[in-house]
Formats: sequence, C-alpha cells, structure tokens
Amino acid sequence: MAWIRAAALSELPAEGAVLGVEAGGRRVALALVDGEVYAFADNCTHRDFPLSLGEVDAETCTVTCEWHGAAFDIRTGDPTCGPAFRPIAVFAARVDGSDVMVDLP
Ligand code: FES
Repeated sequence: MAWIRAAALSELPAEGAVLGVEAGGRRVALALVDGEVYAFADNCTHRDFPLSLGEVDAETCTVTCEWHGAAFDIRTGDPTCGPAFRPIAVFAARVDGSDVMVDLP
C-alpha cells in the first residue's frame, strides 16, 4: 500500500457528487460525506460503468450507479442494491494540507 496524491482538496465537489480521478494507475472516485473524504474504485462491478457519474447519499453513505441503479456502501464497498452483487474496492483517504491522499495497493 502507498499513499498517493489523488486530487487537490479544492477539486472535491459538493456533498452528493463524486469526483473521478486517475491515481496510481487506477480509476478512483472521491466523495465528501459529513466532511470526511471517501475513496473507492471508479467502476461499478455490474458493467464497469464509472461510479463518478453517480450520486452519493450522505444519509446512507452509499453511491448509486447511474446506469442500472446498483448501490454500494462507500465505507465498506458492499453492494446495498442490485443488480451488482460483488463489492467495489474501497481505499483509505485523508486530507494532507491542500491535497487528498489515498492509500492504494
Ligand atoms: S453498470 Fe452499474 S448498475 Fe449496471
């Protein structure tokens, strides 16, 4: 695992939206919920659609895929609504000064 700069803190969208970035050779999605940064794989496990095009529900801490409506808990990666049944990868994230850092394998 290695901490990699994924984005500037100022690039993060308002709560509810998701930012898709390339970090460490991976597609990573970043979202803010209650001031916490969450990082997860930017691909739905149903048909590999970018989750950065979806929406985050702050109450349930889930992201919903725009294509067919699968939802995932962005804290654990577990699917909470089909049609996806495999979890997404989730990564530790932290703010370091003005940067968002993500711990990638
Ligand atoms: S590609 Fe995400 S729900 Fe189908």
